[in-house]
Amino acid sequence: MFSFIEVLPLVLLILESIEQRRLIKAHQEFKYGLAYTYVIGAAFWNFVGAGVFGGGTLNAPLVNYYEHGTFLTLNHAHTALFGAFGLLGIGLIYFCLRYVAGDRYAFKEGPGYTAFWLYNGGLVLWVALNFFPIGWAQLNAVFEHGLAYARSPTFYNTVSIWQWLRIFGDVVFAFGALLMAFDFIMKLWPLFPEHIKRPIAAPVPSETASSAPGAAARTAVRRPAAQQHADV
Ligand code: HEM
Repeated sequence: MFSFIEVLPLVLLILESIEQRRLIKAHQEFKYGLAYTYVIGAAFWNFVGAGVFGGGTLNAPLVNYYEHGTFLTLNHAHTALFGAFGLLGIGLIYFCLRYVAGDRYAFKEGPGYTAFWLYNGGLVLWVALNFFPIGWAQLNAVFEHGLAYARSPTFYNTVSIWQWLRIFGDVVFAFGALLMAFDFIMKLWPLFPEHIKRPIAAPVPSETASSAPGAAARTAVRRPAAQQHADV
């Protein structure tokens, strides 16, 4: 039961990070707002997904004895794993992308914020339209008829409307993932070396190509492997 308390230090760290951000913003521009938002989202879901839906909901021995393998497990697992670690990982990626961009090229935050809200919306829709309505009914079914019945098609057929309603969360979440993937590619694009961009972009006239910066490196890449070995 005490493992529930593991969430509390994180809450304290978040309060500290909010204070630090406020201090930075008082003196200079805060450039890592997008990464910061994802980390705060991770902290929120760590509290709700791990703390409330894990420690608060599943961990009490009387509930824990019955609920294994129900949609309440699914509820905790999705919100804790994606909410706490998924958002944290994405926040770290955005932090690195922002750092690499520096002041060298524009860093648009809009798509990242939209993806963030799509992810969160998807999680909330899963909880509200799928995990909770099925999970609590399933827990009740375990109490009354046992786990075998609660996991049988006979039980699942009684909640099929909620199974179908999961599609809303899936679609919203999937849009977030697609948008984020596109955003990553756009933000990585300026970092691609010329010789990776070249086959995709329009062909460059040969004279310009030989005098362009990086041409020597491209020539080296295009040399036959046998010749490159001979150089060594
Ligand atoms: C970010 C932290 C956490 C993550 C990522 C996480 C993730 C998971 C996952 C993926 C499962 C499903 C395992 C399976 O069925 O194979 C699970 C189960 C479980 N977790 Fe967590 N968890 C976290 C924190 C916690 C905390 C703090 C507690 C309670 C204090 C907790 C209590 C449980 C319990 C009781 C189960 C078993 C549920 C069942 O079998 O039905 N978890 N967790």
